[in-house]
Amino acid sequence: MNVAPAPTPAELARRFPKSFRFGVADSDLQVIGEDACLREEQSQPTMWGWFATQSGKVHGQASPGPGVDRYHRWEEDADLIAALGFRHYRTSISWARLMREDNSVNRAARDWYVRYFRALRERGIRVYATLYHWELPLRYSLVGGWKNRATVDDFVLHARASVEELGEYVDEFFILNEPWCSAHNSFYTGTHAPGEANLRNALIAAHHLLLAQARAFEAIREIAPAAPVGTVINYEPAFPRSETPEDLRAAQLAHEFFNGWFLDPLFLGHYPEAISRVYADSMPQFSQADLDAIRIGPQLHALGINYYLGKVIADTPESPLLYEPVRLPGESQNALGWSVCVPPVYPEGLRLGLRQIHETYGPHGLPPLAITENGYAGEDAGRVAYFGEHLRQLAAALDDGLRVSAYFAWTLMDNYEWAEGYREESRFGLVGVDREDMTRAPKPSAHWFRDLLAAHGSSR
Ligand code: NOJ
Repeated sequence: MNVAPAPTPAELARRFPKSFRFGVADSDLQVIGEDACLREEQSQPTMWGWFATQSGKVHGQASPGPGVDRYHRWEEDADLIAALGFRHYRTSISWARLMREDNSVNRAARDWYVRYFRALRERGIRVYATLYHWELPLRYSLVGGWKNRATVDDFVLHARASVEELGEYVDEFFILNEPWCSAHNSFYTGTHAPGEANLRNALIAAHHLLLAQARAFEAIREIAPAAPVGTVINYEPAFPRSETPEDLRAAQLAHEFFNGWFLDPLFLGHYPEAISRVYADSMPQFSQADLDAIRIGPQLHALGINYYLGKVIADTPESPLLYEPVRLPGESQNALGWSVCVPPVYPEGLRLGLRQIHETYGPHGLPPLAITENGYAGEDAGRVAYFGEHLRQLAAALDDGLRVSAYFAWTLMDNYEWAEGYREESRFGLVGVDREDMTRAPKPSAHWFRDLLAAHGSSR
């Protein structure tokens, strides 16, 4: 990265209030080892298990089957999180594990989560659980997945069961993780399961995800009115290349494509206008009743922001969405390239993006923000620099008066990086995992974080 030397943990720690929460995150399917779940608790197969081996779209056809064997190593991993000093930990409750095909609760999976969450709590770690981090049971995917409105109803049953069965062991819930990916990567770019490329279907899927989010929220409110419930989006701020009306418009389209499509309905009650006009031919009809239902943003306890990158955008009439990211001199990127997103590593984008969110949605009931993911794939020296720079920008955002209460590093340990499989360039972990024997080894970045937590006074 073309940045000044990373600030020391002690320098950074001083810039965050004592009440600020530093945590670490992962998700069930990326770590658990789906094979063990299928075998030992008769879980439902996920769409990713199928996609990985059948679609030709996953690097090395790697399946989430082995994961990092969290299924058997949960106690060791709880010890590890504690040893690194984390008191806040975000993971997910897998729909494919918790629910059986007949929509009853899978007791074996339920008991596994109870054991794991209890172990975390006993070590002084607060548990934040996402209810959908892409663990769609395959049987839904075979009948359209999120394109099918019936998927919404069954997701609500999973959300209910999660709160009824596990609410006692969870401190905060997040409903969805990055619905942009579940809609657009799954149905438009085709890079994620089930790998389709049809804009209209992506928009239908997005609508159903938003509806599922709202209906799950209502269900949780009924069962546990006081439970803190948020949701998580991937925010990708888009900055215009120049101040020309054309570039300004292109940047607005990019914002609406990535961010506004999920945030406007949540806080404003409608889909964003400029990109809806570009979509005209693909745009489905959505009922006003749905749009009214979806607008739950102001009732959320927190809005989770996953931030990895920002983009500089230029007007490009030839591209279907009328905008295009610009390559910048001296741009840097992570080891995955992520070349469609330019510049992929852009720490200042975090501060500027947080400001955009406050300016756009602040007057419409925006709850406090939490950075629910931020991290770097590739060699570990780059990771330390990445965290240092992003936390410096986050501290500046707090100085600006923006309301951000937590930051979760992505991710605890190297794991299954979706379409990238387990390949080396796609490893985001603070802790390395030997893929032969699954032993864990903290990297220097893990120790850097431990020092930060200790200096902040918020370690266990
Ligand atoms: C966001 C996703 O939530 C997570 O599952 C993924 O591993 C990271 N981005 C890195 O790509």
